[in-house]
Amino acid sequence: MSSSSAADLTPNANQKIVQYLNNALAMENASEERIQSRLQETIVDDTRIQLRNHLDETRNQKDRLKQIITSHGGKPTDAKAELPNLKPNTIDLVRDDVTSSSTAKSANNGGSADLQQNSSVRSIVKETDNVRLAAERELIQTERDAMIENAEIVKYKILMEIAKRVGAMDAIPVIDQNLKEEAQMADWIIANTPNMLRRLWAQIEVSAGARSIPEA
Ligand SMILES: [Fe+2]
Repeated sequence: MSSSSAADLTPNANQKIVQYLNNALAMENASEERIQSRLQETIVDDTRIQLRNHLDETRNQKDRLKQIITSHGGKPTDAKAELPNLKPNTIDLVRDDVTSSSTAKSANNGGSADLQQNSSVRSIVKETDNVRLAAERELIQTERDAMIENAEIVKYKILMEIAKRVGAMDAIPVIDQNLKEEAQMADWIIANTPNMLRRLWAQIEVSAGARSIPEA
């Protein structure tokens, strides 16, 4: 293993591999935080179980990265990377539409009886919308989960090439292990998508009608 230690790298090469290992650690720091918030909000039991497992894996990934960074004389970062996201977000479009339609309607109804009836109608609309929006939100967040895991795969694949390039052979097993776990998680999310849609699609599909409810 002596051939793979930090002492065998030039100072510049060692500084660079530490920098890129810390970039991966910053990604995992952000990922850990996101998985924790997803655990709080997910409405799919299988997803919760899988996220719980991946939270443990993510913490072990961080520990492995920290060990390698430290053994190369680096300081493990607490920074959190910005995780990938694709916009526009459908859920915001639906919510905006529902909100603006209800506001417009209540502004038009100045009468007191109308106002009371209107507000109870609005609360019913809001309640059913929340059920529908929760399903759609879950779908959108699952899509982002998969994007993040695939971004992690890209990160580790390129980090692997950088480690090989500078000859940081001790980093390779760590990168390889983390990469395998990210690939398993990414595969699981896509493989589970039919099950998730079977559970949520009816609610997601009727949310297309949420736009017209306040106008009825
Ligand atoms: Fe991950």
